[in-house]
Amino acid sequence: MDSRPSSDSHYSLFTIHCPLTCFNVSMAVATYDDVAHEIRALASRTASAKEFMRAIVVRLAQIPNFNWVGFYMIEPGQAGEPEKMLVLGPFVGADTPHKRIPLNQGICGAAASRGETVVVEDVHSDPRYLACSIETQSEIVAPIRAHGEIVGELDIDSHTPAAFQPAERALVEHCAEVVGNFLERTFER
Ligand code: SME
Repeated sequence: MDSRPSSDSHYSLFTIHCPLTCFNVSMAVATYDDVAHEIRALASRTASAKEFMRAIVVRLAQIPNFNWVGFYMIEPGQAGEPEKMLVLGPFVGADTPHKRIPLNQGICGAAASRGETVVVEDVHSDPRYLACSIETQSEIVAPIRAHGEIVGELDIDSHTPAAFQPAERALVEHCAEVVGNFLERTFER
């Protein structure tokens, strides 16, 4: 499925008035479509999945309201843990106590076990929520599929309530899909 964001999903134009020169400087800011394009381009020039995921979290964390961006990948559980665990991979944002999450816990566990994107507009009203930062207000988690299997997920938190609307969701799901395709090509997790 192609979940590319639509071309008009986000566009900002800043006009900065410079009093010294009396010029107004207009500056275009990347659309979500531009970001999706950048991420597809990164895939073609990145050697390893880890490196690719690192570049994605850095790029997505530059988007206003994307305050914590990270990957969790499914790995076999260690002694005393369930069979499968979500293990924190590359991330940008506050340190989190949730570095290993069972599939039956948290928003992260819900997205991985259901194989569906979970969008939470107000984390405080969702009993599944595992807190990472007291500033977080909303969250999106999109599963990553490779060879038809859920292998991980892309998790984004925002300090703004209801930050993840259809345009943001399309971008996040597109990134998850690009990572899944990358993993299929390289047989890595
Ligand atoms: N909030 C997530 C845990 C991960 S941290 O937000 C980084 C959850 O409820 O599963």
